[in-house]
Amino acid sequence: MKEIFVPLPERGHADGTKVPAGRLCVTRVGQGTPMVLLHGFPLSARMWKNQWESLADQYEFIAPDLRGFGKSSKLVAGWQVDDFARDISAMLDALEIPSAIICGLSLGGYIAFEFLAQFKDKVSGLVLCNTRANADEDSTARGRRLMAERVAREGTWFVHGGMVPKLLAQENRSRKFDPDVPSFFEVLTPDSIATTQLAMAERRDFTESLSTMDVPVHVIAGEGDIITRANEMQQMASEIPSSQFTLITGAGHLTPIENPSEFNQALSKGF
Ligand code: MLT
Repeated sequence: MKEIFVPLPERGHADGTKVPAGRLCVTRVGQGTPMVLLHGFPLSARMWKNQWESLADQYEFIAPDLRGFGKSSKLVAGWQVDDFARDISAMLDALEIPSAIICGLSLGGYIAFEFLAQFKDKVSGLVLCNTRANADEDSTARGRRLMAERVAREGTWFVHGGMVPKLLAQENRSRKFDPDVPSFFEVLTPDSIATTQLAMAERRDFTESLSTMDVPVHVIAGEGDIITRANEMQQMASEIPSSQFTLITGAGHLTPIENPSEFNQALSKGF
């Protein structure tokens, strides 16, 4: 396993402003088909530890800490979900990897949809875990704005208590996992929470593009996920022409952490 820092050059933003140069901390491990692992909110690449430890003989994993998380550079005001996708494209360019399977969980899945829309030539397949194609309902977007305001006022102390129970299946809430879920919350900054919440609130809706997706897609859901419900994910899979669907038992929103053995089996099946 190798942790490297990948420099990202300055680039133009859609609104004419500049996105400053930065760097992504990237875990690279394994050999085989390249697979980019995009973590959920508010985690980091470490959430994929059980995957890169078990499947390194099948995949070359490229697992970045997204900007704002882990050891990567800070986010900048006005950040959008497509900015994360542009970082991933720049990362692949810097690593000279022409194309890869893009595997994203939740926020990572939102980024995967953007990445496919903008950089299709770099996508050899998609693994969409515990995520959705649709944009936020008004009430969800409002909740995100409230959270952004509250962390700016009070710091991040309350985020852990509000989120951890929702991330795990009911039967897993008092279990300790490796990687430890609460530990991800100890290193968060108010700025990364607020900026990412606002970005997610403004993300695009990809529902209409499901039926025209022409890369192989594997949709993976958690039986006890209350954030992205399994039946909605199965419906999403049924709208994608070349797709398969896997339900992970005994897991909520964090399928790769809560049931790594079933999750790894699903990932190793390929397409
Ligand atoms: C995640 O796990 O990335 C979040 O649940 C995404 C979200 O808040 O929509």
